[in-house]
Amino acid sequence: MEHNRGSWGSNTGFLLAAIGSAVGLGNIWSFPYKMGRCGGFLFFILYLLLSVFVGFVIMAGELAMGRKTGRGAVGAYHALSKRFRWVGWLAVFSPFVVMGFYAVLGGYCMEYMVLNLSHLVIPGMQSQRGAEAFQMMLSHPMRSLISMLAFMAVCYLISRSGVSGGIERFNKVGMPALFGMLAIMIVRSLSLPNAMEGLKFMFLPGYAVEAGFIQQAPGFASILATAGGQMFFSLSLAMGAMITYGSYLGKGENLAKNAGIIVTADAIVATLAGVAVIPAAIANGIVEIRSGATVLDAATGLERAMTLADIQLGGPSLLFVTLQDVFRSMGAIGPLFGTIFYLLVLIAAISSAVSLMEVVIACFLDRSAERGKRGNRPAVVALVSLAIAAEGAVVAADGLGTNGLWVPFQKTFGVIGAFNGSWLEFMSAVSEGIAMPLGALLMSLMVAWELRPKALLEEIHLGGSQKIDGFFTVCIRFVVPLAMLLILVGQLDEIFH
Ligand code: PHE
Ligand code: NA
Repeated sequence: MEHNRGSWGSNTGFLLAAIGSAVGLGNIWSFPYKMGRCGGFLFFILYLLLSVFVGFVIMAGELAMGRKTGRGAVGAYHALSKRFRWVGWLAVFSPFVVMGFYAVLGGYCMEYMVLNLSHLVIPGMQSQRGAEAFQMMLSHPMRSLISMLAFMAVCYLISRSGVSGGIERFNKVGMPALFGMLAIMIVRSLSLPNAMEGLKFMFLPGYAVEAGFIQQAPGFASILATAGGQMFFSLSLAMGAMITYGSYLGKGENLAKNAGIIVTADAIVATLAGVAVIPAAIANGIVEIRSGATVLDAATGLERAMTLADIQLGGPSLLFVTLQDVFRSMGAIGPLFGTIFYLLVLIAAISSAVSLMEVVIACFLDRSAERGKRGNRPAVVALVSLAIAAEGAVVAADGLGTNGLWVPFQKTFGVIGAFNGSWLEFMSAVSEGIAMPLGALLMSLMVAWELRPKALLEEIHLGGSQKIDGFFTVCIRFVVPLAMLLILVGQLDEIFH
């Protein structure tokens, strides 16, 4: 059938694009602080175990589903299953929801890059404080709106140019550049005084509590759910992204090996991003504490001396307040590092965003192909971009909950605390907390008990003999469903607690 679905130019191009999808805000922004909040080491070990026994297996399975059917998420589930044919829709719904806030955060990164660039090139301009810059953005919905639109415009232009001409080409330049910039940031972070404290915070079991960064580590079930949700989001799983990217892959390519490389690269970048971000944030916090900085106590409303627990390592403030302060404190070279850092995050966000968009785009183009028509890619990309921009506008106007827009279900479930009145948190809870673990659970049930693992293993074998049959079968039958169930229950408990 002649249609314009597109395909990758080379296996390396595919790998860079898939790593680009995986490496995103999840690695640079949420991984470091979730690890810190969960007390470090146990989270890290669980994360790695889940990556191998669950992430790798689902990754290989999704790539195989896409390549076997030559379809994106909706088409692949339709072609493969009777009972689970609707799961594909879940896998299109989640990326659409995620894009609503991803585009806004991407826009923030753009704005911070421009901010630091202006500090760099305009003589005599003072570096802005993180809190001021962030407050300025949140309280000016128009600004966030414009930067979100700029971010979407870039994604639109890349997607429009097609799978190999746009997505692959962007990642071939963007990913190596990102790795280079990350290396620079790590050297800088580790050469700051007191950087060791940051490393201990991350890798020394129990240190975060002992030293007073956090009051108490969460329980095992909660750490497992956090690590699992993070692992899924970080590896771009259960969102149709890897099914879609797999559908553009040649029959001769080695799926198990590719899956292994993507999972490994994502874990390495998450760890390295932590090392680039956390020690710098902590080192700067310690300098502030020693210089006698004070904070407003939330409980008493009185001014008191700043402590280690006041260093903001969680939530959007890590990226947009704490780190901006780190760059400010570096003096003349600060804006240079700031520009490099926010550009790095921006590239990571763009390469993930185009993969999320591609899930929705492929769904439309597949339908045209099924009717024997040639789909109009530029028109579909424009439509999808506009729909996402409309959704992003709500999140941008909401200003992460500071502007008090209505968030559904808050009263119904009594979960005002869970979303902090924020559309971003609501959307991330719905997609990451519910739709992703549910999607992965259903996918593993379909593969294990309806299709049988053999159906996908045959596809995996096409790229050369790979001895993963026993491992794949046992994991997808027992380990994955059990893990997904625990993660789903843990996430729901977290949301509705
Ligand atoms: N993996 C990306 C990140 O870590 C997010 C993402 C999820 C991208 C799902 C595509 C699909 O930020
Ligand atoms: Na990731």
